[in-house]
Amino acid sequence: MTQEKKSSAALLKIDRATSTPLHRQIYERFRTAIEQGLLHPGDRVASARSLASELGVARGTVEAAYNQLAGEGYFSPQGQAGTVVSPSLPSLRPVRRAPRQAEERAFDPALAEAAPPPPLQLGIPALDAFPRKLWARLVSRRARTTIAADMFYGDPSGHPSLRTAIAAYLRVSRGVACNPSQVFVTGGYRASLALISHTLLGRDDRLWVEDPGYPPTQEVLRSAGQRVVPVPVDAEGMVVARGVRKAANARMAVVTPSHQAPLGVSMSLARRLQLLDWASRAKAWIVEDDYDGEYRYAGPPLPALKNLDRHDRVLYVGSFSKVLYPGLALGYVVVPDSLRDAFGEAARTWSNGCPQITQAVVADFIREGHFSRHLKKMRLLYARRRRMLAVALLKAFAEDVRIDLQGGGMHLIARFDRRRESDEELARRAQLAGLNCQPLSARGTAGFRDEGLLIGFTNIGSALHAQQLATQLKAALRPKP
Ligand SMILES: Cc1ncc(COP(=O)(O)O)c(C=O)c1O
Repeated sequence: MTQEKKSSAALLKIDRATSTPLHRQIYERFRTAIEQGLLHPGDRVASARSLASELGVARGTVEAAYNQLAGEGYFSPQGQAGTVVSPSLPSLRPVRRAPRQAEERAFDPALAEAAPPPPLQLGIPALDAFPRKLWARLVSRRARTTIAADMFYGDPSGHPSLRTAIAAYLRVSRGVACNPSQVFVTGGYRASLALISHTLLGRDDRLWVEDPGYPPTQEVLRSAGQRVVPVPVDAEGMVVARGVRKAANARMAVVTPSHQAPLGVSMSLARRLQLLDWASRAKAWIVEDDYDGEYRYAGPPLPALKNLDRHDRVLYVGSFSKVLYPGLALGYVVVPDSLRDAFGEAARTWSNGCPQITQAVVADFIREGHFSRHLKKMRLLYARRRRMLAVALLKAFAEDVRIDLQGGGMHLIARFDRRRESDEELARRAQLAGLNCQPLSARGTAGFRDEGLLIGFTNIGSALHAQQLATQLKAALRPKP
């Protein structure tokens, strides 16, 4: 959105029923917008002529309001260049006060300012290592070559070039055999799960989820009216026999077989076969959430569960959040051939699709070989950053910490066995010091006993940085007198 647009009619609904004169209403709304930090010093405001036409009032009415705002120092007329909010005004961040209305609570411009993720944040790729220049080149090439057809509604199932690129990538790199028509592009993991739920499930259907697991899985499914059955995870992944005992007739199981979220174990072959066997007997579906299966640091990435799916029970779900960056908000579902039409119909019903240009750029990035190069680089980088953090933590905490490095992924688990505080208390202390560690226990149900801190290592820039963070963490975890 341009700065000028912010100041236009959207901010200024005119009420013709009150006795307040129109010019006064316009004046007051600009003043409030400035005081609340919606408009900043230097922002350009619409010309009196165009605002008058947008609001359906006389140009003189808007000019009267602008003159008053200029007279009081809020606006600064710049001759031919138009009018701006006075650059000399102190930057008026909204005054912190108790929010009065739901609307105010829902959107606070000061909080909405972009901020980098806090140190040790989980699940964010290395933002410093993303090839931004190359990306900018691909974006601008697509923008320059936009034709009218690109500006029409796109296919809600996904941009054909991206569906094709994903199918080719999955076949080669993840061993998932699929055609582009089986790939449905979504706005990310939650959107994929919601699409699956709309298409395949009914209210009150029971589903297995991992315990511990990824909280949004339960949130999305519960909000769609499904009944979630937590199934414990051990060193081999989801304990299928426990799932069968708890709810043999469940309609679906959602699993993270490559790298269990958050424990990091890989599902054993025996468990994979057991799960597939249950699904084919129960006519249930399996959702394979392969959110970061590309990142393994010892040996090649493990093949996907979908590889073993002889009875077409697995829906494979991927996301570009970890392998590119989360701001893209793009993911996908690969569905069995038998579900293609049902998913196509559901995508048409529920969505306008994802932004065309972004999808096209991601497709170019994959097709031109940048994606596999980027992943290869990130694997090496993350292995290094993971080692740097582990070494720094061991140095800072010595025998007070046990580090579970896991075979892959983007975080490690630090266990402080000899401390009496819960991991929730430790995480709270770390967060108060600005370090975004998460408690492991919060990812499980009441029956889940394991404790530790989940710590992201992907954005640690150097060994020195790792040491500084470990020292900071140690100080933060110390009980306060
Ligand atoms: C277990 C798991 N699944 C999926 C995702 C991807 O989610 P999204 O596409 O919403 O970024 C994440 C991201 O953190 C995750 O941890």
